[in-house]
Amino acid sequence: MSIRISQARKAAFKVLLKFEKGEIKFLKESLNQYIEDHKMQKNDLALATDIVYGVMRWRGLLDFKISKFSNKKISSIDKEVLIILRISVYQLLFLNKIPPRAVVDEGAKLAYYFRKRSAADFINGILREFLRRRDELDKASSHEEDIDALSNLYSHPKWMFERWMSRFGLKGVKRLCKFNNEIPPNAIRVNTIKITRSQLAELFKEQKIECEFSKYCEDGLIVPSLQGITQNPLFKKGYFYIQDEGSMLVSRILKPEPGENILDLCSAPGGKTTHIAQIIGNKGLIIAIDNNFRRLLMIKENCSRMGFSAVKITCGDGRECGSLIKMNFDKVLVDAPCSGTGILRRNPEIKWARSYNDIVDLKKLQKEILNNACYCVKPDGVLVYSTCSIELEENQEVIESFLSNHKNFILKKITDEIPQEAKKFITKEGYFQSLPNIVDNSSPDAFFVAKMKKVS
Ligand SMILES: C[S@@+](CC[C@H](N)C(=O)[O-])C[C@H]1O[C@@H](n2cnc3c(N)ncnc32)[C@H](O)[C@@H]1O
Repeated sequence: MSIRISQARKAAFKVLLKFEKGEIKFLKESLNQYIEDHKMQKNDLALATDIVYGVMRWRGLLDFKISKFSNKKISSIDKEVLIILRISVYQLLFLNKIPPRAVVDEGAKLAYYFRKRSAADFINGILREFLRRRDELDKASSHEEDIDALSNLYSHPKWMFERWMSRFGLKGVKRLCKFNNEIPPNAIRVNTIKITRSQLAELFKEQKIECEFSKYCEDGLIVPSLQGITQNPLFKKGYFYIQDEGSMLVSRILKPEPGENILDLCSAPGGKTTHIAQIIGNKGLIIAIDNNFRRLLMIKENCSRMGFSAVKITCGDGRECGSLIKMNFDKVLVDAPCSGTGILRRNPEIKWARSYNDIVDLKKLQKEILNNACYCVKPDGVLVYSTCSIELEENQEVIESFLSNHKNFILKKITDEIPQEAKKFITKEGYFQSLPNIVDNSSPDAFFVAKMKKVS
């Protein structure tokens, strides 16, 4: 018997399974690959994307609900079966336009299609019980305020919720988690070497693509739907790069000038490298280093699509190559590998993949890269350190330790490099950091940036 199954749910299942099996690090890569390999209707594509990201965003809450109606512990439910349950419960909770009966039927079909026939009754039983008793469960859990209950309700791992609670307090952590569970605005950076922001907005309008000027960075446009955008001829012509405004502000803070020599030590896939090239009008030299060769090729592709010849790429380890590059740079950027806790809104998979030990390990790596980077800065030159993490260990503590060991560097307060609207993110020490007490859903991703100057 052949089973007709929804393309969207099939795609969502496959992408989520790859993540659970540890075959991919980022959902985006796997979803894009799936889309490239299979012809999908626009509606299916939208639903698949919604389910993949929705399930990952709400995984903690979904598992909590499933556990209430399952006679097995979540950890002992077969991976494939658990994914089918998460996909189904997500739709029942968040996608009101899909009739519950269709969700339950599709759940059973998925089980058959992916050879989990023996689990069909188990899945069916949980979904039906969920539909019958969901209100009762909601009432019971709305009174619970302990860390276990709250981390489930706000769908974050307990260790993360707990550590943020001691830093931001209950109100702050709830606000931060709520922010992380929102769907982020989609921003693109206009390649002003080729086209102005208004001209690109006009071209989008002709294609009936909605967009508006971004408010935190003068190079951006907010485009509500980016579906299929990389297939758009305007993208292929190199008119823009998909990038959040928080990330755009980093290159603005570096403030590169035409004719300068610039080193970008952790550069792939090239968001900031290409932005720097754009700001200097492609006049100067940018050496872009990364230790991941595959990601480095993405810079090459981006530079050739966008028309930047000033960028030279090199594969290398940012902890060592400083001594190899016998050159003093005007500006050096360390956009360090980090835990990514500032971009959970955009990459919800990160919260389930990380542990506290990662923060400890990353801090060590970040310090090593920064310690090496400083030897490439010329006297009076500038060193910028950035992460998309909100953790003190990866940000302030790295900088404080660096400055106490390198007396020839001073912290330069960030002031006029960024537009007025973004200045609310400057801390009293002079760092750039968007934190939960000031963010709203239109805020950029939470980036941390420190700017330092070599004084001798
Ligand atoms: C935050 S990402 C950089 C994003 C990039 N700057 C952009 O704007 O598109 C960090 C990068 O550091 C690279 N990386 C990790 N460890 C490294 C090391 N030891 N040396 C150089 N690069 C490293 C990763 O491969 C990753 O591409």
